[in-house]
Amino acid sequence: MLEVNGLCKHFTKDKISFAAVDGVSFSMDPGECLGLVGESGCGKSTTAQLIARLLREDQGEIWFQGEDLRKPAIWKRLRRDIQMIFQNPSDSFDPRYTLLSSVKQGLRYLERCSKDELEHRAKDAIACVGLKETYWKRPIRQLSGGECQRAAIARAILSNPKLVICDEATSALDVSVQAQIVALLQRLKQEKHLAYLFITHDLALAASVCDRIAVMYRGRIVELGPTLEVIREPGHPYTQMLLSCVLPARVDQPFELPDWEVQRPLGRGCAFYPYCSKAAPECAEKSPQLQTSGRRAVACFHPSCL
Ligand SMILES: Nc1ncnc2c1ncn2[C@@H]1O[C@H](COP(=O)(O)OP(=O)(O)OP(=O)(O)O)[C@@H](O)[C@H]1O
Ligand SMILES: [Mg+2]
Repeated sequence: MLEVNGLCKHFTKDKISFAAVDGVSFSMDPGECLGLVGESGCGKSTTAQLIARLLREDQGEIWFQGEDLRKPAIWKRLRRDIQMIFQNPSDSFDPRYTLLSSVKQGLRYLERCSKDELEHRAKDAIACVGLKETYWKRPIRQLSGGECQRAAIARAILSNPKLVICDEATSALDVSVQAQIVALLQRLKQEKHLAYLFITHDLALAASVCDRIAVMYRGRIVELGPTLEVIREPGHPYTQMLLSCVLPARVDQPFELPDWEVQRPLGRGCAFYPYCSKAAPECAEKSPQLQTSGRRAVACFHPSCL
């Protein structure tokens, strides 16, 4: 359904250009939930914004259902199929508008439909996310964080999208509300056969909701594979490090934490080389490409799997 090839995006900070996204490639099937995980600043949101056409790539291709999304006419036709949910929903609503009119906005530029149909569909979407009729006329500013995120989800599903990009959609919520929103997203996925690109820095959350996980480090995908396989047997030392930070230690399969004290100099080789417990001379010289074996892929010269 979605295919991303060699996506690159450079930004300039302090007059120095750097690649926020550096040759990212992956594909997604209809109805699939793909987690995009990695530390802050690794390029997750930039990747999402490139796919949702909020940013333009420097290089690379984005195909959706076999069509080139970079072409404006194709994007205009397909954009209703790709919706995005952000971390702070209140930022993307005008707080003075009521819930009903805010949700209706979601379709204004995407589809032509009669006033009555729009009203009907918006009310339907609001019911679908579990907000009662008594909320219709409430200004957005009177909604709680969780209710506001429900409103954002209602607006996102209004156009019957095929892919929803959730960029840290639950990160700003407290744990119990987070669980409710995750349950809502999972129910909608089943009911509407939605695919999610689920962006989070929370690997434990990704592990519980995603079918596959892509791990990003400094603008690149360093590991990609079915969630359970990646969690049970992480192939990249960076994934191992991430897992060691969030999941209980495996007594049967201990692994060494990278030695943060070592701090080897970063050269033209692997970006994780300065911290890697498996670093070898070749890692300083060459940048490992993503090697695929079956459904798994790892960008490391010494992967623990494959
Ligand atoms: N518009 C911009 N101009 C300059 N630099 C940017 C811009 N947007 C992002 N960056 C930089 O690009 C890098 C990747 O940013 P991005 O927001 O994609 O990271 P992220 O993985 O989503 O991080 P987080 O988990 O904190 O949301 C960061 O170093 C960020 O500071
Ligand atoms: Mg981000």
